[in-house]
Amino acid sequence: MRRNNFSIALLLALPSVFTGSCADEAKQPEHTAAVRSIQLPDSTKFQASIDGKQTRLYTLKNSNGVTACFTNFGGRLVGLWVPDSAGNFIDVAIGLGSVQDYAGPDDAYFGASIGRYGNRIAKGKFTLEGKQYSLFINNGVNTLHGGRKGFSAVVWDAEQLNDSTLKLSYLSKDGEEGYPGNLTVSIIYSLTENNELRMQYAATTDKTTIVNLTNHAYFNLNGEGSGSIGDHLLTIDAERYTPVDSTLIPTGELAPVAGTPFDFTKPVTIGSRWNEANEQLKNGGGYDHNFVLNGSGLKPAARVVGDKSGIVMEVFTEEPGLQFYGGNFMAGKNTLKQGAKDEYRTAFCLETQHFPDSPNQPSFPSTVLKPGANYVTVSVYKFSVRQ
Ligand code: BGC
Repeated sequence: MRRNNFSIALLLALPSVFTGSCADEAKQPEHTAAVRSIQLPDSTKFQASIDGKQTRLYTLKNSNGVTACFTNFGGRLVGLWVPDSAGNFIDVAIGLGSVQDYAGPDDAYFGASIGRYGNRIAKGKFTLEGKQYSLFINNGVNTLHGGRKGFSAVVWDAEQLNDSTLKLSYLSKDGEEGYPGNLTVSIIYSLTENNELRMQYAATTDKTTIVNLTNHAYFNLNGEGSGSIGDHLLTIDAERYTPVDSTLIPTGELAPVAGTPFDFTKPVTIGSRWNEANEQLKNGGGYDHNFVLNGSGLKPAARVVGDKSGIVMEVFTEEPGLQFYGGNFMAGKNTLKQGAKDEYRTAFCLETQHFPDSPNQPSFPSTVLKPGANYVTVSVYKFSVRQ
């Protein structure tokens, strides 16, 4: 996961419109240490010049007070404040405190927009129209999340369209990271009045290529510093999943979840089976698997309930798959934005996506994009509270 070092020149610290407590001076709740009024990150810590481009912090808000911060470095979701059962805002998106931290060697794609190909490609190789392409190997023997410097580590052009909408754009040049074709990508992040974070991805290419875009937000619905995610209740709308080998490459099988620790068709706590003796859990170090979602169109994919906060997060997507990553590689190496460490299994990711290694798995839904075709896909994280 180590990336290139970037030369980061911090700009003069400008007075920030985002710094400081906004709204909600509600009483400190008892049930979790992480609950507090909305304390936005220090925007000056996101002002830098990377690869000759300006980075900064962008803040979106809906009329319910739900607030999201992004940086255009890596198209990262930095924080997301949603109300808990008591009406207090909790930042449920686990993130870092500065652009330098996000660009550092231990960053694990916190909140990142991922591409050109999210998840793994076996041995970093694939063939398109008779030609073999080689990518940078950055994860054991495989390529993960785009390669050495994927979309999580580039500076996107950003345009805040209104209070609740941010448009990010990036041109990934022909040959960048080994992928063919100039890929013109945009992502529109918006906060709706239904307390949804909506993500609309679009891309076009001038040569046949592969694309698999996702967001790599880490969540703890009880907030940063509130400990393990083990007691969060999870449902995944999938009767099947894609088992993997010991390098986390799918075997090609779509295996039933029934009778396995991968059965989340009914709500079950994340931690109740994660240490079971099971070959797939062993391969992933816990949950780190793609689920084959039921249904089509913009459909329900997952539902998570924070045991302490009562916050409910629902995931909807047009994608066929969902990677459930249970934070198995988190090792306390990063200091998070409120000061806690990113300890083992203290956050989860639900990455809407096409299946891992699809370019080498002809039976999986295709990730090939041809010139003239439009890649468009929508995913949604929706927040409410347990009734
Ligand atoms: C992968 C994990 C990986 C993590 C990196 C997830 O999408 O499935 O294996 O460690 O990203 O943060």
